[in-house]
Amino acid sequence: MSTKIGFGALIVLIVLVASARAADNQDPSADRKFRARLSTCSTCHGGNGVPKVVGIPIIWGQDADYLLKQIHDFESGDRDVEIMTYVVKQIEPEFVGGVMANIAKRKWPLTVSGGGAALPPGPPGLAVCKGCHQNNFLGASTPEAKQLAGGPAPRLAGQNYEYLVRQMNRFAEGELRNSPTMAALMAAIPPADRDAMARYLSRL
Ligand code: HEC
Ligand code: HEC
Repeated sequence: MSTKIGFGALIVLIVLVASARAADNQDPSADRKFRARLSTCSTCHGGNGVPKVVGIPIIWGQDADYLLKQIHDFESGDRDVEIMTYVVKQIEPEFVGGVMANIAKRKWPLTVSGGGAALPPGPPGLAVCKGCHQNNFLGASTPEAKQLAGGPAPRLAGQNYEYLVRQMNRFAEGELRNSPTMAALMAAIPPADRDAMARYLSRL
């Protein structure tokens, strides 16, 4: 089942993309186009990095390789989310790398404590996650860590609860199929434990 976003959001998006295109006609420079593509993301992911709507993930400061993989997965349909598939199709290939690098270089908005400085004790079962998402849950950042994790394991610390738990449930239920490892791991964890993990991670 694909994830549906409200009709209203889709209309807003279409208007935005259309206005970005109209601006292209007035000033077709590559720089102007680049900024227009980037500002499309802010509509939902937030102009200050804090998402506008509950359940939309924080992407500022997330690893560039991870962002690029997700864009690829939205495009191929391995990650079946109508709204993001639509957004991704509006960005010309020559802008994708630059837009993701720009977002990755920004500072993760500190919604809570600052990303795992001194971790409070967490629910059981989180030790295994650290092997890939790293001790502080800031994500795999070095090539070695990414290789060990079987891919660019993203930052989880301080990501919003609604988004984390939804992703974990989707992996567990086989709806999200872009990481067989994560799917197998999540299927083995009871729903209540997944919920407790998501709450804990969101507070870091
Ligand atoms: C209309 C709203 C909207 C716009 C505009 C939008 N996004 Fe998203 N984005 C979402 C939603 C909703 C999700 C969560 C999808 C899901 O549930 O899996 C998401 C998820 C993502 C993810 C996955 C994050 C993760 O942790 O896995 C990335 C990466 C992303 N968006 C990048 C972008 C970029 C880059 C842009 C601009 C070019 C953009 N988005 C514009 C709504 C939007
Ligand atoms: C073997 C390595 C590995 C282990 C162990 C692991 N993960 Fe992951 N995880 C990944 C990778 C790689 C991804 C990115 C998958 C993709 O390509 O989209 C991921 C993605 C995720 C996501 C999606 C985040 C987002 O922004 O959409 C969540 C949530 C998550 N993991 C939670 C956990 C939790 C909780 C645990 C421990 C119970 C765990 N993971 C253990 C490798 C791992």
